[in-house]
Amino acid sequence: MGSEHAADLESADVSTLPEGFDEAAYLEAHPDVRAAVAAGDLGSGADHFRYFGHKEGRAIRRAPPFEDTELLIGNDGLPIPPSDLMFLVTNGRDPARFQAAGEADLRAVRRAVEEAGLVLSKPDLRVLDWGCGCGRLARHWASEADSVRLHGCDINPELVDWCAASLPFGQFAVSPFDPPLAYADGSFDLIYGISVLTHLTFEEHYRWMQELYRLLVPGGIAVMTGHGPTMFPQVLAGAAPTSAAGGRVRTTLIDQEAFICLENSAGSNASGNVLTQNMFAHIFSPFDVRLQRPRYGLMGIHDTYVFVPKTDRSLQFIDFCASFDLSGQISEHSFELDFNEQANLSALINLENLHYPATIQVTLHALDGSEGLIATWTAPLPGRTEWTLIDQAYTFFMLEGLPAYNGLVRATLKVQGTHALDGTTLSFRKVVLF
Ligand SMILES: C[S@@+](CC[C@H](N)C(=O)[O-])C[C@H]1O[C@@H](n2cnc3c(N)ncnc32)[C@H](O)[C@@H]1O
Repeated sequence: MGSEHAADLESADVSTLPEGFDEAAYLEAHPDVRAAVAAGDLGSGADHFRYFGHKEGRAIRRAPPFEDTELLIGNDGLPIPPSDLMFLVTNGRDPARFQAAGEADLRAVRRAVEEAGLVLSKPDLRVLDWGCGCGRLARHWASEADSVRLHGCDINPELVDWCAASLPFGQFAVSPFDPPLAYADGSFDLIYGISVLTHLTFEEHYRWMQELYRLLVPGGIAVMTGHGPTMFPQVLAGAAPTSAAGGRVRTTLIDQEAFICLENSAGSNASGNVLTQNMFAHIFSPFDVRLQRPRYGLMGIHDTYVFVPKTDRSLQFIDFCASFDLSGQISEHSFELDFNEQANLSALINLENLHYPATIQVTLHALDGSEGLIATWTAPLPGRTEWTLIDQAYTFFMLEGLPAYNGLVRATLKVQGTHALDGTTLSFRKVVLF
């Protein structure tokens, strides 16, 4: 691992060290890092944490043992994870609570599915526990091992290794932070993610929803928990101590709906987000949301959502058509867009490091020699100026009833700010919705 890390060092995202970081304790907790430092592949454990460890959700030290949990067998006959692994996913080290809360949360998943009017029972039910941690919920499928094919995945290899060694009825794999996962289309009847979305940024939500759509069979079921508006005060208050580790609160707007995220260690418990109700609706747009219950999952502090893929499988998201750095108070950029047989155009446009308010205009001209105007439309970004401290704003354009046109068009994006737009990035994505 050392040499590939060394190659990445220059481009890595640097963060400051968390309070209480101790080099010796970090190396003791992570023998692979100690070996890489000893081999000269890394300068120090501190370097490892700054460049990789914080993203991988590595603990800064081994938690003091609650008991000798590595030798404990739970009341379900399965091993209890080491206390530092339990601590990593739950912030707690009590084996009894770990088992009871996991059981209750899996029961909440099943109950939410039932309340949504959906049915889980089917021979050979294929289940994915996405972001499975150290198997807090996964272990409770053991009694159904004959009829359920359980898969679990997580970005953290320590957690996955423990599951693979300790929960033999399931198949566990380390997964990438960003999609795709290594499973074929339509591999699962049920995918649940408990307290996983809560650690992602807006962009990551958007990408993962497309991936979950791909992985579910038509009629499959997804259950996800997240922080809704009732959690705003707690998440933001909880953010304060961890922000010492280099995190910051970032506000993203999409069509005036807020996604507030403490960005610190991507994917780890040190990052958290809260979303408005309509923001969830945006993110879940490839699905029909069948149930939404406040404070129903994850020990009663998360909202639970049950959703199924929309039946029209024509959904495609075409990422980043173009991206530009803006400057001056009016900034104009053009690019070519393939426009074959396009009756409608949906576009998601975002400004990053936004100097707001600003107005954005999109104009399409035919590139068939005529340079004829096909369409033009304008939107404010953000429309509601009472939002403050916005880092990113998205606006969603839906242009309907466009004249039939086959071929390339020139798209021109013109942004007019109330201040100079220097430092702002503008991105354009074409979106094909249901
Ligand atoms: C708060 S823990 C919850 C673990 C488990 N779902 C549970 O309820 O006990 C969040 C988990 O999500 C994992 N995670 C974060 N980002 C992920 C991603 N992009 N893909 C898969 N797992 C991820 C973390 O490694 C961590 O194990």
